[in-house]
Amino acid sequence: MQWLGRWPACGSFGTMREERKEAPRGGTSHSAAAPLRMGSVEEERPRLTIGMGELDRVLGGGAVPGSLVLLGGEPGIGKSTLLLQAASSLTRKGARVLLVSGEESANQISSRARRTGALSPDLYLLCETDIDAVVEASRELVPQVLIVDSIQTMRSADLDSSFGGVNQLRECVSRMQSLAKEIDATAFLVGHVTKEGVLAGPRMVEHMVDCVLYFEGERFDSLRVLRAAKNRFGSVSELGIFEMTDAGLAEVEDPSHHFLHVREEPVPGTAVVVIMEGRRPLVVEVQALAVPSKLPTPKRVSTGMDHRRLAINVAVLERKARIRLADRDVYVGISGGLKVSEPALDLGVCMAIASSRQDKTLPPETVFLGEVSLTGEIRPVSKVEERLKEAARLGFRSLVLSDRSRLRERPRGLQLVEVRDVGQALNAFTIT
Ligand code: TYD
Ligand code: MG
Repeated sequence: MQWLGRWPACGSFGTMREERKEAPRGGTSHSAAAPLRMGSVEEERPRLTIGMGELDRVLGGGAVPGSLVLLGGEPGIGKSTLLLQAASSLTRKGARVLLVSGEESANQISSRARRTGALSPDLYLLCETDIDAVVEASRELVPQVLIVDSIQTMRSADLDSSFGGVNQLRECVSRMQSLAKEIDATAFLVGHVTKEGVLAGPRMVEHMVDCVLYFEGERFDSLRVLRAAKNRFGSVSELGIFEMTDAGLAEVEDPSHHFLHVREEPVPGTAVVVIMEGRRPLVVEVQALAVPSKLPTPKRVSTGMDHRRLAINVAVLERKARIRLADRDVYVGISGGLKVSEPALDLGVCMAIASSRQDKTLPPETVFLGEVSLTGEIRPVSKVEERLKEAARLGFRSLVLSDRSRLRERPRGLQLVEVRDVGQALNAFTIT
């Protein structure tokens, strides 16, 4: 910090003091309009490791001091639980954490903490909805991590627009932004998301924060997925996977095992694929149902995959592989309620649909990997080696992939079935 407020060659003691007073805490600040040499800028300060591996991973390796993180998700999905557990983990590591709740009483919070094993005597609680009071308390306590649950319940007395209004929201987020910088804390803001998947309150909040995380899952499934939609300090392709249990959220350490249904007998309409979620390969099952339709335009319904891709896969099956689906409703889902946008899913989707349509099962130890083009050809997928390894690790014996795949090494114990197009893949398993 050589450059900060030290002018040895000129100026009086007074100017120097002035400079010091101007400098906000925490480092990469500078005096008035003096340009900085990049080399003099402090390196990135160490992140604060939260101690929940899945959350740290999605953040990009821990919490960045002075930054603002938005945690969005539908009501009841587990946002408060996640952050309470994170707060407790941090506190146990000796960090100073302030949890502000505008939704729950201190009693409710501590009884939840007791239930989830997240009770930590040194965690500071503040039940408050007045943003000025939050700012004041934070200035006094100077927490390293500040949690505001939820940002929609906060209001500023300075603004008279209606409670929860857009201006209130903007004002509260911007107050948190300057507070986080001022006290060099990481601020987590909880934001409720409506059914349609937009933050209750406009997109603008997403633009104001450094990192946007979404916590997702199916209501009747215990699986929860944390994903980054925006991250100034890390990748947005990492996923955190949790399971909601009676004792709070548990991190899922071997997600592939979690997503696979172990069955005694294979059933028609299922096919296994390996997807990449960030750097992690994940084995999941595609489930399809093709049933007679009474509608003039049969239904194509997908959960967890893009409906346009489903429509394309169905059309390719019809035209290129002679699987008749024009009189069928087709439903496709991904096990565990995951949302997958990878084209590598295509072949598995086609196989599952055809398997259901023809009421024939696919061999249970087989994995399908490939993007299906409009011509019906199978294209190679990215990161094929990583996917093969994961399939082998989980005990799969054979893998169907594009005959144009370029493999640097052949996996041991895994038989490779190379196919040119969907028709060939179906023939290989006598689904015709
Ligand atoms: P919560 O964290 O309050 O959700 P959000 O803050 O996103 O609205 O979680 C609420 C749900 O989680 C609630 O329906 C009950 C369930 N839950 C459990 O199943 N086990 C637990 O240990 C806890 C604390 C909650
Ligand atoms: Mg909540």
